[in-house]
Parts: sequence; structure tokens; C-alpha cells
Amino acid sequence: MRIPREVIEELRERISITEVISPVVTLKRKGGSMMGLCPFHQEKSPSFSVVPSKGIFHCFGCGEGGDIFTFVQKTRGLGFYEAAKELADQAGVALPERELSIDELRRIKARAGLHEICQHALEHFQSRLLTSAEGQPALDYLHKRGVSDESIKTFKIGYAPDKWDDLLNNLHTLGITLEQAVAAGLARFRDASNSRRGGYDLFRGRIIVPIMDRRGRVIAFGGRLFEGPDDAPKYVNSPETDIYRKSRTLYGLSQALSAIQRKERALIVEGYFDVIALSQAGFLEAVATCGTALTTDHLQALRTLTPRVIALFDSDEAGLRAAERSMPLFLNSGVEPMHLSLEGAKDPDEFIQEFGAEAFETQLARSEPLFELVLHRVAERCGTTPGGRQRAVEEVAPLLRRFPTASRSVWVARVAGVLAINERSIQERIGRSTPQQQVPAPPLRWQPGGRLRTMFWLLLHHPDAVIEELLDFSHPEWLTDNPEALRAIGLLLQGVELTEILQQVGDQDVARVLRMEAANDREFKEEKVARQIRRYIIELEDRHLSMRLSEINVQLGQIRADQISELRTLLRERGRHQKRRGLLKKALMSRDMGQSKLADSAPEEGEVEPPS
Ligand code: UTP
Ligand code: MN
Repeated sequence: MRIPREVIEELRERISITEVISPVVTLKRKGGSMMGLCPFHQEKSPSFSVVPSKGIFHCFGCGEGGDIFTFVQKTRGLGFYEAAKELADQAGVALPERELSIDELRRIKARAGLHEICQHALEHFQSRLLTSAEGQPALDYLHKRGVSDESIKTFKIGYAPDKWDDLLNNLHTLGITLEQAVAAGLARFRDASNSRRGGYDLFRGRIIVPIMDRRGRVIAFGGRLFEGPDDAPKYVNSPETDIYRKSRTLYGLSQALSAIQRKERALIVEGYFDVIALSQAGFLEAVATCGTALTTDHLQALRTLTPRVIALFDSDEAGLRAAERSMPLFLNSGVEPMHLSLEGAKDPDEFIQEFGAEAFETQLARSEPLFELVLHRVAERCGTTPGGRQRAVEEVAPLLRRFPTASRSVWVARVAGVLAINERSIQERIGRSTPQQQVPAPPLRWQPGGRLRTMFWLLLHHPDAVIEELLDFSHPEWLTDNPEALRAIGLLLQGVELTEILQQVGDQDVARVLRMEAANDREFKEEKVARQIRRYIIELEDRHLSMRLSEINVQLGQIRADQISELRTLLRERGRHQKRRGLLKKALMSRDMGQSKLADSAPEEGEVEPPS
């Protein structure tokens, strides 16, 4: 970690975890923790827990968890440094620049360079639209289609004149090479195999729509033809670059973030101009895919903001087909989608131009679950013969299976109604033992026993009492054979903060168990802690002795008649262990767990050989 530890600690002290999480998740107090609906998987009842006193969150449903930094990283898709930076800004703490490895530095520089080049290009296109005579027809076109001057500014729309090198020349004066412009997706080499033969602007004679990342940095462009040859493609878009991934980018997201959270819904549309028109009409919660099909990454970006996503695909056959195909994606990302086919217009932009914002809101109220559309299309395709209806069930069964349990039965009933097939046979088709969670917690590869869990819990919630009891315990290796778990116990005993321990522990399963126990609201009376720990230690020793005893018995069975002294040693050891076990058993039954009696007669260090 390169940000000084003191700074991290200061951030942790200054910023409470609830402060960070509550804008994203509605939390209700429950015991020592706060509960809410997990933003990382879809659920109907809260299993997402925040423990303010420990500075951590943990989801009992999907296993996600961590501290303020992890939360910002995971919900915003940021790296650790960026997340720390955000939190530092929020808390007014200065973050010193970290030292980076040379490789890291080179990569960041290269990416920053691309951002910078795109920013230069954006400014160039903007000034061409707004301050050059060549830009006038483009400006006229925008006005004619109802784009306001304010929208032009907000969306930083620009214009690329119809020349081969207008942008390249400008970039050149800023010291940016052709190679760099190509890397930023703004130019092409004339001859791909020989960069020395020069290159040309990708965007020519087009209105330029800049595409920003989530943080509002420009990463790519879409260029729309508005006059000129009809055979040229309507849009030319930036290719993917080191800073632009189409499958992850939602056009308009940076501007829509807060509106999506405020309105508790997101609208997904197909076109750049749909987003612009909607925003202009007051629907700032709209985003668009960038000329590619919808992906789970797109939806995951939205899911952290809202579970309500309304998809507005074009109402032509292609749009409906795209809508149908997107259904599994929604289910995979844990979003139950709504769908709206606009009546009387091709897309939201045209609808707004024609009928206005109020009419659009009325339309939105008409949106229905996307699954309705899928169901009706499937039903239509398959026909009403018994065989056709059966085929339709086969087609929708995989989807039904992926619905969250709570809504699945409703949908089964709906399918039964539409296809006129009885519910039971549909149930049978999708199977009864369907998965409970969209995103089940990956199974723990390391499974600590109940006692070790209790030990963790006690260490986390009653550290002083536990430390008192463990002071003289000299066999930590009896607790667990997982070295990382053992390390965590050591750190807890030293009084290191949980958030710090979570960072030091390399084993994700151990980290998860720690978080689970930290968020676990057990009832446990303080005065019982000591007894519990003593009992545990006794049980550990007993288990250890019993293992050793069975070893001894095996060794005794293998011993040769002439090995008298070995025989004697083993028998002596066995006797000692048996006696000790008797004492342990008595202690377990006594009221104070043999507090005084046992300690005295505990085996000497080194006398008991560890099991091999
Ligand atoms: P549309 O053809 O619906 O365009 O394509 P639009 O955004 O409504 O534009 P206008 O209203 O005709 O000006 C929807 C989206 O598909 C991508 C673009 O992202 C566009 O916004 N697209 C379309 C392309 O990438 N290339 C194309 O040639 C056409
Ligand atoms: Mn359009």
C-alpha cells in the first residue's frame, strides 16, 4: 500500500461507514449493526449488514464485504487509490501522492495521456461548432432538431469539419503525435503497417457527441452525419482504446448518476440523441448503450444505483427482438427490468419532440415487466397448438428459473395463464429446487468449526475478557491449522483494528469469516465469556490428547518385543494423557471450568509432542 498508513487511519477515523453507505443503501438499526438491502446482489429481505463500531460491512447473502474503501471501490468501480482520494476529498484530508512502480507509472501516464488528448479533441470540436463559420450548418441542424444551447453545453457537443486533418493539425500544435492520436481513437494510419505514411482524422464532417466515463472524463466520441452522402454510415464511433470499453460504457451516466439515485429509476435508451432529448425534457436519469448491445456490465453499473431499470428499445421489430434478447442479461445482473414500447414514435427523442415531456411521463407509467413482452412474443412464435404451448414453456423455463424466488411463483402463474397450461406442469418444468439467490455467496473453501467461529466472535466483541483468559495459553496451533486464521487471531489479541487486520489477511475466506462474525449479533453475556473460553481451551486440549492417544495406540501395535524402553516411554505417556483427560473432563463439569485446579497441573511446555 502506498498511501501512508496514518492517512488511511485518519480517513477511517473521520469518516463513518454509515456516512459512506447510507446514501446508497437504506439502513435500519438492528442490534449493534445496521441492516439493508444488499447493493451487490438482488434480494427482497435485508442481509446486508453494516457494523459502525467496527467500520465494516458484510453481506450474509452474497459474501461481499469490507470497509469504507472497499465499499467505494466496489460500488463505483474505482481502484483503491481513487476511492481513497474520493473519501479524502470528502473529509478534507490531503492525500500525498503515492510512489508508483515504474510500470504502473507508465500505464497511468499513458492512460492519463489518452484522457488528455481526448479532452483536447473535445475542446477543439466544441470551438469548431460554436465559434467557426464552418460550424454554422451543424449548429442549425442541432437547433432544428430541438437541441437547446444549454444541452449543447451540458453534453459538450461539437463539430468536426469535413477535412482530413483538421483535428490532427490542431493536436500537432499541442505536441501530440499521430501515434498518440491513433491510440486515443481519433485518427487512423493511412497504411496500418507503416505509420510513417501518415494518417487522417477519423471524424470528418460530423456532429460530435463526446462520450464520458462515470467520472465525467471524456473517453470517446460518436460522430453523426447530418448532411452529405446518404450511403455513408449515420454514425462513426471511436474504436475501443485503453480508456474506452464499449461493453462497459453507458452514454450519459456521469450526468445521470444523481438523478438515477434521486428518482430511484434508470431509463436505458438506444441513441445518444435520445439521452440528450430526455435530459432536456427533465428526464436526467436516462443513459444509452454506445452502439453496442446491452451487456451485464452495463446493468451492473446501474444496479449499484437502483434496482428499477426501464428499458426503452425502439418499437420496430429489431428493437423488440433486442429487448427480448436482453431479458437473461437483466436476470443475470439481478435487475428485474421494465419495458416500454413507445406508441406513435420511433424513439424517445421523436416522442418528446412530438408529444412533450408530460406525455412521456404518462407513457413511463405504462411500462410493464420486460418478461411480459418476452412471454407474448414467445407465445406468438410458438402458436396455440398443444405442442406449440409446450415449446413455449420450454423456452421460458430457463428464464423463470433465474427469477428471484419471491417473484418466480407470480411469473409461473402468469405463464400458466397466458399459455393455458397448468401451473404444476410449469413448476415441474423449471424444477422445484431452484437456486435461492441470483448471486450466491461463493462457498468458503476454508470451513472453520463452530468453536473457532465463536472464538473469533468473542475476540471481536469481548476482546479484553478473552485476552485475560488466553494469556497463558501456549498452543495457538491447536486452534486452527490455517496460518492466516492464526495470524488474524494473533492480531486480534494484540488489539489491532479489524479494518487493519482485514487488509493484512491474505486469505479471502478468513477475511469473510472475520466480517461475518463482526456483523453477527449474538446474545452473549459478558460474564459468560471467560467460562466459554476456558471450556474451549479444555476442549482443544482434549481433542489434541485424544489424537495423540490414538497415535500412541497405533505405535504400540507396531512395536517389536525387543523395544522395551520405547514401550515403556509410550505407556508412560499414555498414562499421563489419560490422567490429564480425566482432569479435563472433571473441569468441564465444574462450575468455573476448573479455573484454578487445571492451570497447576497443565503439562509442561514441550512434554506433549504435537501430533505429526
Ligand atoms: P439510431 O439510428 O436510432 O440513431 O441509433 P439516433 O441516436 O436515434 O440518432 P438520430 O435520432 O437518428 O440522430 C441508435 C444508436 O445506435 C448507434 C448510435 O449509438 C446511435 O445513437 N449507431 C447507430 C451507430 O453506432 N452507428 C450507426 O450507423 C447507427
Ligand atoms: Mn433518434
